[in-house]
Amino acid sequence: MMKINATFPELPKFEEYTEEIRSIFETGTLTNNGPKVQKLTSLLKERTGCDNLDVFVNGHLALVLGINSLDLPKGGEVLTSPFTFVSTTNAIIQCGLKPVFCDIDDTYNISIESIERNATKDTCAIITPHIFGIPCHVKEIQEIADSHKLKIIYDGAQAFGTQIEGIDIARFGDMTMFSLHAIKVFNSIEGGVLCYKDKRLKRKLVENRNFGLAIEDKENSEYIGINGKMDEFRASMGIVNISHVDKVIKKRKILADKYIECLKNIDGIKTFEYEDGVSYNYAYFPIRIDKHVFGKTRDEIKDILEKQGVGTRRLYGRLTCDMDSIKKHGYKCVVDKARKVSRECLDLPIYSSMSTDDVMYIAKIISKNQSHNL
Ligand SMILES: Cc1ncc(COP(=O)(O)O)c(C=O)c1O
Repeated sequence: MMKINATFPELPKFEEYTEEIRSIFETGTLTNNGPKVQKLTSLLKERTGCDNLDVFVNGHLALVLGINSLDLPKGGEVLTSPFTFVSTTNAIIQCGLKPVFCDIDDTYNISIESIERNATKDTCAIITPHIFGIPCHVKEIQEIADSHKLKIIYDGAQAFGTQIEGIDIARFGDMTMFSLHAIKVFNSIEGGVLCYKDKRLKRKLVENRNFGLAIEDKENSEYIGINGKMDEFRASMGIVNISHVDKVIKKRKILADKYIECLKNIDGIKTFEYEDGVSYNYAYFPIRIDKHVFGKTRDEIKDILEKQGVGTRRLYGRLTCDMDSIKKHGYKCVVDKARKVSRECLDLPIYSSMSTDDVMYIAKIISKNQSHNL
Protein backbone atom coordinates (compact mmCIF):
# COMPACT_ATOMS: atom_id res chain seq x y z
CA MET A 1 0.00 0.00 0.00
CA MET A 2 1.18 3.53 -0.76
CA LYS A 3 1.94 5.79 2.20
CA ILE A 4 1.40 9.50 1.63
CA ASN A 5 1.70 11.79 4.65
CA ALA A 6 -0.75 14.63 5.13
CA THR A 7 2.22 17.00 5.34
CA PHE A 8 5.96 16.82 4.99
CA PRO A 9 8.45 19.65 5.60
CA GLU A 10 10.30 21.34 2.76
CA LEU A 11 13.85 20.45 3.76
CA PRO A 12 17.15 21.44 2.12
CA LYS A 13 19.97 18.98 1.56
CA PHE A 14 21.57 18.04 4.88
CA GLU A 15 24.98 19.36 3.75
CA GLU A 16 23.53 22.71 2.73
CA TYR A 17 22.27 23.26 6.24
CA THR A 18 25.41 22.00 8.00
CA GLU A 19 27.53 24.27 5.80
CA GLU A 20 25.36 27.25 6.75
CA ILE A 21 25.66 26.56 10.49
CA ARG A 22 29.43 25.98 10.45
CA SER A 23 30.20 29.62 11.27
CA ILE A 24 27.91 29.48 14.31
CA PHE A 25 30.29 26.93 15.84
CA GLU A 26 33.27 29.11 14.95
CA THR A 27 31.91 32.38 16.34
CA GLY A 28 29.90 31.01 19.25
CA THR A 29 27.06 33.41 18.45
CA LEU A 30 23.94 31.34 18.94
CA THR A 31 21.31 34.03 19.36
CA ASN A 32 20.63 37.72 20.25
CA ASN A 33 20.18 39.19 16.78
CA GLY A 34 23.32 37.58 15.40
CA PRO A 35 24.58 37.63 11.80
CA LYS A 36 22.25 34.84 10.63
CA VAL A 37 19.14 36.63 11.89
CA GLN A 38 20.37 39.83 10.27
CA LYS A 39 21.05 38.05 6.99
CA LEU A 40 17.65 36.37 6.97
CA THR A 41 16.01 39.72 7.71
CA SER A 42 17.70 41.38 4.76
CA LEU A 43 16.92 38.46 2.42
CA LEU A 44 13.27 38.74 3.44
CA LYS A 45 13.24 42.49 2.88
CA GLU A 46 14.68 42.01 -0.55
CA ARG A 47 12.18 39.31 -1.45
CA THR A 48 9.03 40.99 -0.14
CA GLY A 49 9.96 44.58 -0.97
CA CYS A 50 9.13 45.55 2.63
CA ASP A 51 11.68 47.77 4.33
CA ASN A 52 10.01 47.47 7.69
CA LEU A 53 10.38 43.81 8.51
CA ASP A 54 11.61 41.84 11.51
CA VAL A 55 11.86 38.17 12.40
CA PHE A 56 10.63 36.49 15.56
CA VAL A 57 10.76 33.15 17.31
CA ASN A 58 7.38 32.11 15.89
CA GLY A 59 4.41 33.50 14.02
CA HIS A 60 2.03 33.65 16.97
CA LEU A 61 4.34 35.80 19.03
CA ALA A 62 5.01 38.03 16.04
CA LEU A 63 1.26 38.50 15.65
CA VAL A 64 0.76 39.32 19.34
CA LEU A 65 3.64 41.81 19.36
CA GLY A 66 2.43 43.30 16.10
CA ILE A 67 -1.12 43.85 17.33
CA ASN A 68 0.17 45.26 20.61
CA SER A 69 2.43 47.72 18.84
CA LEU A 70 -0.60 49.45 17.29
CA ASP A 71 -2.05 50.52 20.66
CA LEU A 72 -5.61 49.66 19.70
CA PRO A 73 -8.20 50.63 22.32
CA LYS A 74 -8.63 47.93 25.01
CA GLY A 75 -11.89 46.06 24.50
CA GLY A 76 -12.15 47.35 20.93
CA GLU A 77 -13.95 45.15 18.42
CA VAL A 78 -11.95 43.35 15.78
CA LEU A 79 -13.50 41.87 12.66
CA THR A 80 -12.07 38.44 11.99
CA SER A 81 -12.72 35.07 10.41
CA PRO A 82 -13.30 32.00 12.59
CA PHE A 83 -12.20 29.72 9.73
CA THR A 84 -8.58 29.77 10.82
CA PHE A 85 -5.99 28.24 13.07
CA VAL A 86 -6.80 29.17 16.65
CA SER A 87 -3.68 31.36 16.84
CA THR A 88 -5.45 34.21 15.00
CA THR A 89 -8.29 34.38 17.51
CA ASN A 90 -6.04 33.78 20.52
CA ALA A 91 -3.81 36.67 19.49
CA ILE A 92 -6.78 39.05 19.28
CA ILE A 93 -8.03 38.04 22.73
CA GLN A 94 -4.56 37.99 24.28
CA CYS A 95 -4.15 41.60 23.16
CA GLY A 96 -7.27 42.62 25.11
CA LEU A 97 -9.48 42.96 22.04
CA LYS A 98 -12.89 41.50 21.26
CA PRO A 99 -13.24 39.29 18.18
CA VAL A 100 -16.37 39.75 16.10
CA PHE A 101 -16.66 36.63 13.99
CA CYS A 102 -17.58 37.42 10.41
CA ASP A 103 -18.65 34.93 7.76
CA ILE A 104 -16.51 33.73 4.87
CA ASP A 105 -17.08 33.31 1.14
CA ASP A 106 -15.86 30.88 -1.51
CA THR A 107 -12.28 32.12 -1.09
CA TYR A 108 -12.40 30.61 2.44
CA ASN A 109 -11.61 34.14 3.67
CA ILE A 110 -13.63 36.83 5.41
CA SER A 111 -16.46 38.08 3.20
CA ILE A 112 -16.77 41.73 2.30
CA GLU A 113 -20.50 41.67 2.89
CA SER A 114 -19.93 40.33 6.41
CA ILE A 115 -17.32 42.99 7.17
CA GLU A 116 -19.75 45.69 6.07
CA ARG A 117 -22.55 44.18 8.14
CA ASN A 118 -20.47 43.91 11.32
CA ALA A 119 -18.47 47.15 11.31
CA THR A 120 -19.69 49.45 14.10
CA LYS A 121 -18.42 52.54 15.90
CA ASP A 122 -16.61 50.17 18.31
CA THR A 123 -14.66 48.43 15.55
CA CYS A 124 -10.97 49.31 15.62
CA ALA A 125 -9.36 46.77 13.31
CA ILE A 126 -9.68 43.91 10.86
CA ILE A 127 -7.37 41.08 11.88
CA THR A 128 -7.91 38.16 9.58
CA PRO A 129 -6.00 35.39 7.84
CA HIS A 130 -5.14 34.81 4.20
CA ILE A 131 -6.23 31.27 4.82
CA PHE A 132 -4.52 28.45 2.90
CA GLY A 133 -2.28 31.17 1.44
CA ILE A 134 -5.28 32.41 -0.59
CA PRO A 135 -5.40 36.21 -0.45
CA CYS A 136 -8.30 38.08 1.11
CA HIS A 137 -10.15 40.69 -0.95
CA VAL A 138 -7.41 43.16 -0.10
CA LYS A 139 -8.62 46.04 -2.24
CA GLU A 140 -12.17 46.06 -0.88
CA ILE A 141 -10.92 45.54 2.68
CA GLN A 142 -8.64 48.56 2.32
CA GLU A 143 -11.56 50.67 1.09
CA ILE A 144 -13.72 49.70 4.06
CA ALA A 145 -10.82 50.25 6.48
CA ASP A 146 -10.19 53.70 5.01
CA SER A 147 -13.81 54.72 5.31
CA HIS A 148 -14.15 53.45 8.90
CA LYS A 149 -10.58 54.34 9.96
CA LEU A 150 -9.68 50.77 10.83
CA LYS A 151 -6.27 49.14 11.04
CA ILE A 152 -5.73 46.02 8.95
CA ILE A 153 -3.52 43.24 10.23
CA TYR A 154 -3.25 40.21 8.02
CA ASP A 155 -2.43 36.88 9.55
CA GLY A 156 -0.41 35.78 6.55
CA ALA A 157 0.95 32.77 8.46
CA GLN A 158 0.16 30.53 5.50
CA ALA A 159 0.70 33.03 2.70
CA PHE A 160 4.46 33.40 2.23
CA GLY A 161 5.22 33.66 -1.48
CA THR A 162 1.72 34.71 -2.60
CA GLN A 163 1.56 37.79 -4.83
CA ILE A 164 -1.28 39.91 -6.19
CA GLU A 165 -0.59 41.53 -9.58
CA GLY A 166 3.13 41.06 -8.92
CA ILE A 167 2.98 42.69 -5.47
CA ASP A 168 4.04 40.61 -2.51
CA ILE A 169 1.17 39.78 -0.16
CA ALA A 170 3.23 41.31 2.69
CA ARG A 171 2.59 44.76 1.29
CA PHE A 172 -1.17 44.94 1.85
CA GLY A 173 -2.80 46.31 4.98
CA ASP A 174 -0.95 47.92 7.89
CA MET A 175 0.83 44.76 8.90
CA THR A 176 1.30 41.17 7.80
CA MET A 177 2.62 38.24 9.78
CA PHE A 178 4.19 35.17 8.18
CA SER A 179 4.75 31.95 10.05
CA LEU A 180 7.92 30.06 9.24
CA HIS A 181 6.71 26.96 11.05
CA ALA A 182 8.06 23.57 9.92
CA ILE A 183 5.25 22.67 7.56
CA LYS A 184 4.85 26.02 5.84
CA VAL A 185 5.90 26.57 2.21
CA PHE A 186 8.96 28.35 3.59
CA ASN A 187 10.20 27.31 7.03
CA SER A 188 12.88 28.15 9.55
CA ILE A 189 11.84 25.16 11.72
CA GLU A 190 9.86 27.61 13.88
CA GLY A 191 9.78 31.29 13.15
CA GLY A 192 7.71 34.35 12.43
CA VAL A 193 8.00 37.52 10.37
CA LEU A 194 6.28 40.87 10.71
CA CYS A 195 6.06 43.29 7.80
CA TYR A 196 4.59 46.70 8.63
CA LYS A 197 3.89 50.02 6.96
CA ASP A 198 4.72 52.43 9.77
CA LYS A 199 8.46 52.52 10.32
CA ARG A 200 7.97 54.20 13.71
CA LEU A 201 6.83 50.82 15.06
CA LYS A 202 10.27 49.32 14.59
CA ARG A 203 11.75 50.43 17.86
CA LYS A 204 8.82 49.10 19.87
CA LEU A 205 8.77 45.78 18.06
CA VAL A 206 12.48 45.19 18.27
CA GLU A 207 12.63 46.19 21.94
CA ASN A 208 9.55 44.15 22.85
CA ARG A 209 11.13 41.14 21.13
CA ASN A 210 14.00 41.48 23.62
CA PHE A 211 12.21 41.86 26.98
CA GLY A 212 11.49 45.54 26.28
CA LEU A 213 15.16 46.44 26.81
CA ALA A 214 16.11 49.79 25.30
CA ILE A 215 18.19 49.53 22.11
CA GLU A 216 20.86 51.97 23.34
CA ASP A 217 20.81 51.07 27.02
CA LYS A 218 20.32 47.40 27.79
CA GLU A 219 20.26 48.19 31.51
CA ASN A 220 16.97 49.97 31.01
CA SER A 221 13.65 48.92 29.53
CA GLU A 222 11.07 51.02 27.72
CA TYR A 223 8.34 48.35 27.58
CA ILE A 224 7.24 45.25 29.47
CA GLY A 225 8.53 43.04 26.69
CA ILE A 226 8.96 39.32 26.19
CA ASN A 227 11.53 37.00 24.64
CA GLY A 228 10.55 36.71 20.99
CA LYS A 229 14.01 36.36 19.47
CA MET A 230 14.80 33.92 16.71
CA ASP A 231 18.05 31.96 17.22
CA GLU A 232 20.88 31.54 14.73
CA PHE A 233 20.18 27.88 13.92
CA ARG A 234 16.63 28.62 12.86
CA ALA A 235 17.71 31.69 10.94
CA SER A 236 20.23 29.46 9.12
CA MET A 237 17.44 27.10 8.08
CA GLY A 238 15.53 30.14 6.82
CA ILE A 239 18.56 31.38 4.85
CA VAL A 240 19.00 28.02 3.15
CA ASN A 241 15.31 27.46 2.51
CA ILE A 242 14.62 30.88 1.04
CA SER A 243 16.85 30.04 -1.89
CA HIS A 244 14.56 27.09 -2.68
CA VAL A 245 11.15 28.61 -2.09
CA ASP A 246 10.37 29.49 -5.72
CA LYS A 247 11.27 25.97 -6.79
CA VAL A 248 9.06 24.59 -4.01
CA ILE A 249 6.09 26.70 -5.09
CA LYS A 250 6.58 25.73 -8.74
CA LYS A 251 6.51 22.04 -7.80
CA ARG A 252 3.41 22.56 -5.68
CA LYS A 253 1.70 24.25 -8.62
CA ILE A 254 2.38 21.18 -10.78
CA LEU A 255 0.76 19.02 -8.11
CA ALA A 256 -2.21 21.40 -7.76
CA ASP A 257 -2.74 21.43 -11.54
CA LYS A 258 -2.70 17.63 -11.55
CA TYR A 259 -5.26 17.49 -8.72
CA ILE A 260 -7.52 19.87 -10.66
CA GLU A 261 -7.20 17.82 -13.84
CA CYS A 262 -8.01 14.57 -12.01
CA LEU A 263 -10.81 15.88 -9.79
CA LYS A 264 -12.59 18.28 -12.10
CA ASN A 265 -15.14 15.83 -13.44
CA ILE A 266 -16.09 14.24 -10.15
CA ASP A 267 -19.58 15.39 -9.19
CA GLY A 268 -19.73 16.67 -5.63
CA ILE A 269 -16.03 17.61 -5.42
CA LYS A 270 -15.19 21.28 -5.69
CA THR A 271 -11.61 22.47 -6.05
CA PHE A 272 -10.63 26.08 -5.43
CA GLU A 273 -11.09 28.42 -8.39
CA TYR A 274 -7.73 30.13 -8.78
CA GLU A 275 -7.99 33.69 -10.07
CA ASP A 276 -5.95 35.33 -12.80
CA GLY A 277 -3.54 37.97 -11.56
CA VAL A 278 -2.74 36.15 -8.33
CA SER A 279 0.41 34.05 -7.91
CA TYR A 280 -0.63 31.48 -5.34
CA ASN A 281 1.80 29.66 -3.07
CA TYR A 282 -0.16 26.37 -3.11
CA ALA A 283 0.40 26.00 0.60
CA TYR A 284 -2.66 23.75 0.89
CA PHE A 285 -4.98 21.94 -1.46
CA PRO A 286 -8.48 22.30 -0.02
CA ILE A 287 -11.43 20.57 -1.63
CA ARG A 288 -15.07 20.76 -0.67
CA ILE A 289 -17.24 17.67 -0.65
CA ASP A 290 -20.98 18.07 -1.16
CA LYS A 291 -22.29 14.91 0.47
CA HIS A 292 -25.65 15.12 -1.30
CA VAL A 293 -24.00 15.03 -4.71
CA PHE A 294 -20.89 12.97 -3.91
CA GLY A 295 -22.79 10.46 -1.83
CA LYS A 296 -20.35 10.47 1.09
CA THR A 297 -19.43 12.94 3.76
CA ARG A 298 -16.07 14.64 4.13
CA ASP A 299 -15.33 12.48 7.17
CA GLU A 300 -16.20 9.27 5.34
CA ILE A 301 -13.85 10.10 2.47
CA LYS A 302 -11.14 11.10 4.97
CA ASP A 303 -11.42 7.64 6.60
CA ILE A 304 -11.34 5.86 3.24
CA LEU A 305 -8.17 7.73 2.23
CA GLU A 306 -6.59 7.00 5.61
CA LYS A 307 -7.23 3.26 5.18
CA GLN A 308 -5.44 3.43 1.83
CA GLY A 309 -2.39 5.13 3.34
CA VAL A 310 -3.25 8.75 2.55
CA GLY A 311 -3.18 11.34 5.32
CA THR A 312 -5.42 14.39 4.99
CA ARG A 313 -6.39 17.21 7.32
CA ARG A 314 -9.74 18.63 8.38
CA LEU A 315 -8.79 22.27 8.21
CA TYR A 316 -10.78 23.75 9.81
CA GLY A 317 -13.13 21.14 11.19
CA ARG A 318 -14.05 23.36 14.10
CA LEU A 319 -14.40 27.11 13.80
CA THR A 320 -12.44 29.00 16.44
CA CYS A 321 -15.67 30.64 17.67
CA ASP A 322 -16.93 27.14 18.53
CA MET A 323 -13.91 26.17 20.64
CA ASP A 324 -14.63 25.94 24.37
CA SER A 325 -12.04 28.53 25.41
CA ILE A 326 -13.54 31.09 23.03
CA LYS A 327 -17.22 30.17 22.90
CA LYS A 328 -17.66 30.79 26.62
CA HIS A 329 -17.10 34.54 26.15
CA GLY A 330 -20.17 34.84 23.91
CA TYR A 331 -18.55 36.96 21.21
CA LYS A 332 -20.66 38.12 18.25
CA CYS A 333 -20.75 35.40 15.65
CA VAL A 334 -22.90 34.96 12.51
CA VAL A 335 -21.03 32.42 10.46
CA ASP A 336 -23.43 30.13 8.59
CA LYS A 337 -21.30 29.73 5.49
CA ALA A 338 -18.14 29.17 7.56
CA ARG A 339 -19.93 26.37 9.46
CA LYS A 340 -20.97 24.72 6.19
CA VAL A 341 -17.45 24.99 4.76
CA SER A 342 -15.94 23.61 7.96
CA ARG A 343 -18.11 20.47 7.53
CA GLU A 344 -17.23 20.07 3.84
CA CYS A 345 -13.55 20.99 3.58
CA LEU A 346 -10.73 18.48 3.35
CA ASP A 347 -7.09 19.38 2.77
CA LEU A 348 -5.31 16.95 0.50
CA PRO A 349 -1.54 16.44 0.77
CA ILE A 350 0.62 18.86 -1.21
CA TYR A 351 4.38 19.24 -0.75
CA SER A 352 7.33 19.17 -3.07
CA SER A 353 8.55 15.66 -2.25
CA MET A 354 5.26 14.26 -3.60
CA SER A 355 4.91 13.12 -7.20
CA THR A 356 2.09 13.57 -9.70
CA ASP A 357 1.63 9.77 -9.41
CA ASP A 358 0.80 10.32 -5.74
CA VAL A 359 -1.81 12.87 -6.76
CA MET A 360 -3.31 10.48 -9.32
CA TYR A 361 -3.44 7.74 -6.67
CA ILE A 362 -5.34 10.03 -4.28
CA ALA A 363 -7.71 11.29 -6.97
CA LYS A 364 -8.47 7.72 -8.07
CA ILE A 365 -9.49 6.72 -4.56
CA ILE A 366 -11.79 9.73 -4.37
CA SER A 367 -13.27 9.04 -7.80
CA LYS A 368 -13.82 5.33 -7.12
CA ASN A 369 -15.69 6.12 -3.95
CA GLN A 370 -18.23 8.47 -5.38
CA SER A 371 -21.60 6.79 -4.83
CA HIS A 372 -22.66 6.47 -8.44
CA ASN A 373 -19.27 4.93 -9.26
CA LEU A 374 -19.68 2.08 -6.78
C1 LIG B 1 -3.42 30.95 10.24
C2 LIG B 1 -2.30 30.78 11.23
N1 LIG B 1 -2.09 31.75 12.15
C3 LIG B 1 -1.09 31.68 13.02
C4 LIG B 1 -0.23 30.60 13.06
C5 LIG B 1 0.81 30.56 14.11
O1 LIG B 1 2.09 30.53 13.59
P1 LIG B 1 3.27 29.81 14.39
O2 LIG B 1 2.99 28.34 14.39
O3 LIG B 1 4.49 30.16 13.62
O4 LIG B 1 3.29 30.39 15.76
C6 LIG B 1 -0.41 29.56 12.12
C7 LIG B 1 0.45 28.39 12.03
O5 LIG B 1 0.99 27.70 12.61
C8 LIG B 1 -1.47 29.65 11.19
O6 LIG B 1 -1.66 28.69 10.29
